Amino acid sequence: MACFGLLTGGGDCPGLNAAIRAAVRTGIPAGDSFLGFRYGWAGVLSGEAIELTVERTAGILPRGGTILGTSRTNPFAGEAGGSAAVRASLQRLGVDALIAIGGEDTLGVALRLHEDGIRTVGVPKTIDNDLGGTDVTFGFQTAVQIVTDAIDRLHTTAESHDRVIVCEVMGRHAGWIATYAGIAGGAAEVLVPEEPFDIEVICANLTRRHARGHYASVVVVAEGATPKAGTLVVASGDLDAFGHARLGGIGNLLAAEIEKRTGFETRATILGHIQRGGTPTAFDRVLATRFGVAAIDCAHDGAFGQMVALQGGAIVRVPLSAAVAELKTVDPDLVAVAEVFYN
Ligand code: F6P
Repeated sequence: MACFGLLTGGGDCPGLNAAIRAAVRTGIPAGDSFLGFRYGWAGVLSGEAIELTVERTAGILPRGGTILGTSRTNPFAGEAGGSAAVRASLQRLGVDALIAIGGEDTLGVALRLHEDGIRTVGVPKTIDNDLGGTDVTFGFQTAVQIVTDAIDRLHTTAESHDRVIVCEVMGRHAGWIATYAGIAGGAAEVLVPEEPFDIEVICANLTRRHARGHYASVVVVAEGATPKAGTLVVASGDLDAFGHARLGGIGNLLAAEIEKRTGFETRATILGHIQRGGTPTAFDRVLATRFGVAAIDCAHDGAFGQMVALQGGAIVRVPLSAAVAELKTVDPDLVAVAEVFYN
C-alpha cells in the first residue's frame, strides 16, 4: 500500500491516458492511492495535483493527449530547486514514489532524482521512438499511421498536378517516423537526422525518376534532418529548458531548393502537431496499458530507478541509466530499405 505520484512530461503523445488508467487500475485494488501531478515536473514542484481514482480515469483509454497536462519544465534548470524541492513537495503531499511517464528528458530527471534517493519508476513514451532500452515507445505507431495516411493523400494531389511535395514530419534527433512512414507511404526520398543529405543527389534522383515517366514525387523529411556541411544554410531555432532547439522549417527550405534546381513545381506540407494528436492505435493502447500495469508491479517490487520496456515482445525492466544513456537512432538496415526506392 503506497501513495504514488504520477506525471506525464515532455511532448504529449497518444497512449498517455491509457498508461495512466492502467497504473491506477492496477494499484487501487492493491490498496494504493494516486496523485496525478499537473503539467509534468511543474506540478511536482508546485504541488498542483489531483487525486486519481477508478472513476476519474474511466473513459480515458481511447483519448489522445493527457488528462494531467504536460510541460517541458526541468526541475534542475535555473532556480527550480532540483531534488531538494521535489523531495520537499513529495513529503508535504505524502507521496511515497513517483511514476514518471516521459521521454529522454523526463526520464533523465527521474534518473537524477533516483540517484538522489527519491523513488522513481519510468514509463517510456514519445512519438519519436528515440528512447534507448525499449524496442518501441507508445505514441510512435499512431504517429506513423497518421503520417502514412497523409502521404497517401499527398500522392493523389501531387499526381494530379505533376508536382513534387515535400512532407516535413517530427523527429528531432532520430528519423524513425520519417523512415517508417516513408517506406509505408512509398516516398521517393526519406531524409533523416542520422544521415546528412546532399541536395544535389536528391535533385539528381528526382530528375532521373521524372525522366522515366513519374511526374509526381513525395519527399519525406524529418524536422531534424540536416544538409551535408556547406551545401545549404538552415536557420536554427530557440532552445527549450532541456536545451533542445525548436525545429520546423526544413521542409519549406527543401521545397524551394528542389524547385529552383530541378524546375519541377514543388510544394511543402508541414504535418507538425497533427502527428501527436488524436486517438491512439490499438497497438499503442495495448503497449501503454502493459507499461502502466508493469510500472506498478515494478514499484510494488521496490525496483526503483528502473524503466519498464518492451524487448522482443516481452515487458522487461531496464535501469533508467541505461535507457537515457544514448538516443536510439534509426537502424541503418532500415534506412537501406527506404533507399531501394530512391531511383
Ligand atoms: O519530443 C517529441 C516532439 O514531438 C518532437 O518530435 C518535436 O521536435 C517536439 O516534440 C515538438 O515540441 P513542442 O510540442 O514543444 O513544439
